[in-house]
Amino acid sequence: MNWLPRPADGTAWVAPSLLAADFADLRGEVASVAGAGADLLHLDVMDGHFVPNLTFGPFICGAVRRTTDLPLDAHLMISHPDRYVEAFAGAGVDALTIHVEAESPVGTTLGQIGRLGVRKGLSLNPGTDLATVLPHLPALDLVLVMSVQPGFGGQEFDPAAVDKIAALAERREAEGDDFLISVDGGINHETGPVCREAGADILVSGSWLFGADDRAAHAALLRGGS
Ligand code: DX5
Ligand code: ZN
Repeated sequence: MNWLPRPADGTAWVAPSLLAADFADLRGEVASVAGAGADLLHLDVMDGHFVPNLTFGPFICGAVRRTTDLPLDAHLMISHPDRYVEAFAGAGVDALTIHVEAESPVGTTLGQIGRLGVRKGLSLNPGTDLATVLPHLPALDLVLVMSVQPGFGGQEFDPAAVDKIAALAERREAEGDDFLISVDGGINHETGPVCREAGADILVSGSWLFGADDRAAHAALLRGGS
């Protein structure tokens, strides 16, 4: 299993969301963003029930695994993650991020993920109170703050996410936890740096990064630093 430490001060890890990739050329797209400086890949799994859209499951995650050694974070926008975590672990993903709003019991499902040797992530929707994730923080490797309603790429960033990121960073400092803070939805050259400065460690970007002529230059804008 392959994972990342906290990024250097003033920088963030760059996580392209493959939702915006050309799936007819998955191998080429993965190589392109890896060459552009991606630090990990974000895989959006949707079940048509938790969100009104369908994407892919463990089979495609396994195919991506065979094209790259980059860490893979599968963002499970599915109602019953407990039924599938074993299949995703078998596909070789490094982190499994479930939703606090899902129907599976959160603590039990995180325990299942941990026993499989996979990093544990928990995500919350824009309308969900941060209080719902607080009891789980000591057990987590990753918190994924949604800055759009999950289900589709290309939506506009909801600035309410910035306050959640800052509150998580403050809480982590106070409690001595070591989870990474990630943000997902509408991330670009304007919103990305704002999130980074608020304390985000991972910036997920789909349409803005994949739509760029110069993906390396765009990734560098998200990464920050000198
Ligand atoms: C939304 C997904 C996001 C999405 C981000 O449901 O979870 O990961 O791909 O795409 P952009 O960057 O286009 O908002
Ligand atoms: Zn996502």
